[in-house]
Amino acid sequence: MTGQAVDEAIAEGRRKIEWVRRNSPVLDGYVRETLADGALRGRRVAVVVHLEAKTAFLAKILAEAGAEVVVGGSNPFTTRNDVVEALRADGLTVIGREGGGYPEWEEDLLALADTEPEIVIDDGAELTVRMAKHRPDAFRRLAGVTEETTTGTHRLERMASAGMLPFPALTANNARCKHLFDNRYGTGQTTVQALLALTNMQIAGMRIVVVGYGWVGRGIATYAKALGARVGVLEVDPVRALEAMMDGHAVGSAADLLPGAAAVITATGGIRAVGLPEFDLLSDGAILANAGHHDLEIDVPALESAATSSRQARPQIRAFDLSGRVVNVLSEGALVNIAGGSGHPIEIMDLTFAVQGLGAHHLAGTELPVGVNVLPKHLDDAIAAARLRAGGITLDEPDQRHVDDVLAGLSEGLE
Ligand SMILES: NC(=O)c1ccc[n+]([C@@H]2O[C@H](COP(=O)([O-])OP(=O)(O)OC[C@H]3O[C@@H](n4cnc5c(N)ncnc54)[C@H](O)[C@@H]3O)[C@@H](O)[C@H]2O)c1
Repeated sequence: MTGQAVDEAIAEGRRKIEWVRRNSPVLDGYVRETLADGALRGRRVAVVVHLEAKTAFLAKILAEAGAEVVVGGSNPFTTRNDVVEALRADGLTVIGREGGGYPEWEEDLLALADTEPEIVIDDGAELTVRMAKHRPDAFRRLAGVTEETTTGTHRLERMASAGMLPFPALTANNARCKHLFDNRYGTGQTTVQALLALTNMQIAGMRIVVVGYGWVGRGIATYAKALGARVGVLEVDPVRALEAMMDGHAVGSAADLLPGAAAVITATGGIRAVGLPEFDLLSDGAILANAGHHDLEIDVPALESAATSSRQARPQIRAFDLSGRVVNVLSEGALVNIAGGSGHPIEIMDLTFAVQGLGAHHLAGTELPVGVNVLPKHLDDAIAAARLRAGGITLDEPDQRHVDDVLAGLSEGLE
């Protein structure tokens, strides 16, 4: 980039980060104040989350608290150049780029590992797993990891049960202030927004199949239904399928639901949830989008090999010709709400990053057991209370009057 282009990128990145700050009362208030106690001063913290303005604001809060912050991206398609330039101009180290593919991203993550972070704020355990595989010494020296999402939490749990996690990790995902809001409302709203913005299509009456009915799938189904879509849910867990049915959605097998679907959105957290057998069931013109962490949740490589040809139908829409039918994939199968949209609403990331920032602070200042831990309940409560306070809301304290007196009058012999 030329000098002028860099200056313009810095200015634009700074405007975006300032917009985030103005709409992040928890990070900009309670979290900033808590982190000012010095626990993070001089600690090397790697932030490896989708590298856009909200992540940049978290990185800046950590840097202000005295941490030596290195920032990278958790997906090759979600890094934004203006934000990278703005962070660099403000003295933070960024190892990431917009416009690279998987090989460049892998290279950047290993370069990030070589900075020997002590604490990692990770997403999908992308840096943690690579450090374990390719930088085992630096991995063993990690003081801790705080992990953003469901898929990363599952990865860390599997490493812990195999005896391969030699330090404490925190699952931010399992904090209530994360999954109840981010996975459900954040992904629900923004996935539907991205689907509509990228396709320029109408949702009222549209037949949408959501694959996976966890927090993310529930959110997407709720928003799609509220806007008039006819929603079907493809689940493998019978309890969750029953829940989807009672929430008013059609449930059934792939053979029942996929034919005639205008859009299919994956949210399973696994890989190949929609692959060759499912492609055979899709109608002409079907749109495939992914909201789960893995870019492989829709098996795009298998679709590429099954198709006679493919072409760019619109920005971020690739149309695959399957002898007589066309199947359209949004954002190459990467998380559509981030790669094909602006990511979660700022207010949602204010909560998620409050969990992550306080998680890093907790790891720095507390002896935690090796393995996967959850943020203490009082911190989760404090985040929610801070958010309510920012909206001018205070709650009543719990009162002894409300406590069931079940123990009164029981004989002492039972104690
Ligand atoms: N796009 C985003 O911004 C965003 C935000 C939060 C989480 N995530 C990611 O979304 C994914 C889902 O998260 P979650 O919290 O809902 O997870 P979850 O584990 O609560 O739910 C996943 C559901 O998918 C079902 N499932 C698994 N494989 C399936 C298959 N092949 N077919 C049908 N159903 C299947 C499971 O039974 C489960 O009910 C994860 O990868 C998570 O990391 C994305």
